[in-house]
Amino acid sequence: ENHQNRLKPLVGKNILISAGPTREVIDPVRFFSNRSSGKMGFALAEAAAEAGGDVTLVAGPCSLSIKNPAIKRIDIVSAQDMYEAMHHHFDTSDIVIKAAAVADYRPKVTYDNKMKKQPGEWHVEMERTKDILLSLGEKKTTQYLVGFAAETSMPIEYGIDKLVRKNLDSIIVNNVAEEGAGFEGDTNVVTYINKHQQIEELEMNTKAEVAKHILNLIYRDMKDEVN
Ligand code: CTP
Ligand code: CA
Repeated sequence: ENHQNRLKPLVGKNILISAGPTREVIDPVRFFSNRSSGKMGFALAEAAAEAGGDVTLVAGPCSLSIKNPAIKRIDIVSAQDMYEAMHHHFDTSDIVIKAAAVADYRPKVTYDNKMKKQPGEWHVEMERTKDILLSLGEKKTTQYLVGFAAETSMPIEYGIDKLVRKNLDSIIVNNVAEEGAGFEGDTNVVTYINKHQQIEELEMNTKAEVAKHILNLIYRDMKDEVN
């Protein structure tokens, strides 16, 4: 392996990353969403571009900006938009990382006009969104497919279940109840699990450093698959 490859191990690789929350609109002034800031996904995109990769970032609504001008950013709003953007770019990707916090449910009806308040309760009927990662796992050929799991209890058990069920190559488990982990912060504590169920616990670090470690582990496991 030459010097260039060691410094820029992702040269020649197409990397597709999703980041941030999705927004499920109920009327022109209201939506359902979640606490994802997008920071972990954006950090992965920057680190992958730094490592020489050709990066496409599918981003839900968030207030972050990309520093590396080589990253192609696609802004989306809803889970359905993200589904379409991810499938559009999937076939030409070598590595796909789903760091986004996708809404599991959306309002069954979207109103064109602002809802006016009425006396008494209001019940909003919700329906399931598509599981994007599951659908990519079913379609997968040569892509190295990575998921995230945000859990508040039994993170390893739930993580392994998602890894197997969604046909992933690895999963990054985030115990959002832990100090220094989770949504808005600049640090994260994660556990990386590959499909052989080898478990790597990464120490608490900035999301930028955690992103570099995750990419190194992905690169290590991709090489192992080839050899
Ligand atoms: N995911 C997805 N599409 C969805 C829901 C989740 O692609 N509609 C992806 C997320 O981007 C993440 C992984 O699936 O990479 C796990 O998300 P998570 O919310 O932890 O798991 P779920 O399968 O939705 O299960 P639950 O929320 O019930 O724990
Ligand atoms: Ca979910």
